[in-house]
Amino acid sequence: MKTAIKRADSGTQIGPDSPQLDPLGRALRDVRVSVMDRCNYRCGYCMPEASYPRDHAFLRATQRMNTPELGTLITALLHLGMQKLRITGGEPLLRKDLPEIIARARVLSAALARPLEIALTTNASLLAAQAQSLFDAGLDRLTISLDSLDPQRFRALSGDRGELAAVLLGVSAAERAGFHAIKFNCVVQKNVNEADVLKLCERFRHTPHVPRFIEYMDVGTCNGWRPEQVVASADLIAQIHARYPIEQIKQYSMGEVATRYRYLDGAGEIGFISSISAPFCRGCTRARVAADGKLFTCLFNAHGHDLLALLRSHDALLVAQAMRGIWAMRDDRYSELRAARLASGGQTMPDLKAEMYHLGG
Ligand code: GTP
Ligand code: 5AD
Ligand code: SF4
Ligand code: SF4
Repeated sequence: MKTAIKRADSGTQIGPDSPQLDPLGRALRDVRVSVMDRCNYRCGYCMPEASYPRDHAFLRATQRMNTPELGTLITALLHLGMQKLRITGGEPLLRKDLPEIIARARVLSAALARPLEIALTTNASLLAAQAQSLFDAGLDRLTISLDSLDPQRFRALSGDRGELAAVLLGVSAAERAGFHAIKFNCVVQKNVNEADVLKLCERFRHTPHVPRFIEYMDVGTCNGWRPEQVVASADLIAQIHARYPIEQIKQYSMGEVATRYRYLDGAGEIGFISSISAPFCRGCTRARVAADGKLFTCLFNAHGHDLLALLRSHDALLVAQAMRGIWAMRDDRYSELRAARLASGGQTMPDLKAEMYHLGG
């Protein structure tokens, strides 16, 4: 029997559940919710210091979804078939009530009998002090951004803010807390951190952790992206294979962004996220909700659909209905269109895109 869900604050039942497909046949399965637009780093590919100086007007606390509003959002999303919740930022560990948010998501998933995987993407600079409370709150998985293992390069890539040592302390704390297979994201930029690719492989061989190499993307409007800055995953795969032979392995699921490889000598797994050279829009089951309650159906949308007023009414039924209607109209496939455009000698698409720190990647 289907489980009906309660309206967040009124006790009214809604349901039965049924997945909503978009016009390209894609269900809504993964949701990335940004809980904080601010970040203590200024990575050049996301929020370069020149565009986001120290006095930049980020959202005020009252403009962000609070914990009960996030609870209403999560209730509605569970109703729509969400199976994975990824919490993002900016930097989500700047949010003081993060364990409470995770615990609430856990409780809602259990109450509705809808299994939910909860993951977090973080720069890990503040993780050492928080890893245990996040694990205890019910966080399943951690993904840590790690662009370099060289302290100077790491600092430069973070906009002169990050301390590699603090991140590595965070990793140790996470391991002690009980996070086993941690993913490490490295955005590879031509002539910037290519040398870190093999170093990251070596650092995490013979561990359960999974480094993933991401093609630098044309997200947002201020990173000055150029196609020449991208290192195609195929080149990295060849380079790694020459040193440590690898083979591709099966995806966990159809909508997964990373292609998975394993070392032939059994030393572990690595991944590649190739949105530029091999777009994966066809299987894209991801929605994004910014910290101010705006729903984006693609990482490259210019504008989101404002759900904040509905969320503030705490009517999960109305929120679910609104999202269902938006998803039913969704025809996004930006990366496929970009690939076609670049292949025909054109430039990247117009600069009408929301910023990465706002959407949480
Ligand atoms: P898991 O598969 O659960 O590990 O999560 P994930 O890989 O989706 O999450 P993560 O936050 O680590 O994202 C990795 C990279 O993939 C980031 O650079 C994201 O911006 C990028 N990415 C994630 N989803 C999409 C997407 O739908 N489209 C594009 N173009 N890039 C994406
Ligand atoms: N291209 C590719 N990945 C990016 N990220 C941020 N900006 C970009 C970009 N322009 C990555 C971060 C983080 C993840 C959520 O998105 O490194 O790991
Ligand atoms: Fe912060 Fe992540 Fe953006 Fe870097 S990529 S500035 S760590 S939100
Ligand atoms: Fe999904 Fe848009 Fe990324 Fe394509 S470009 S995979 S539609 S988020």
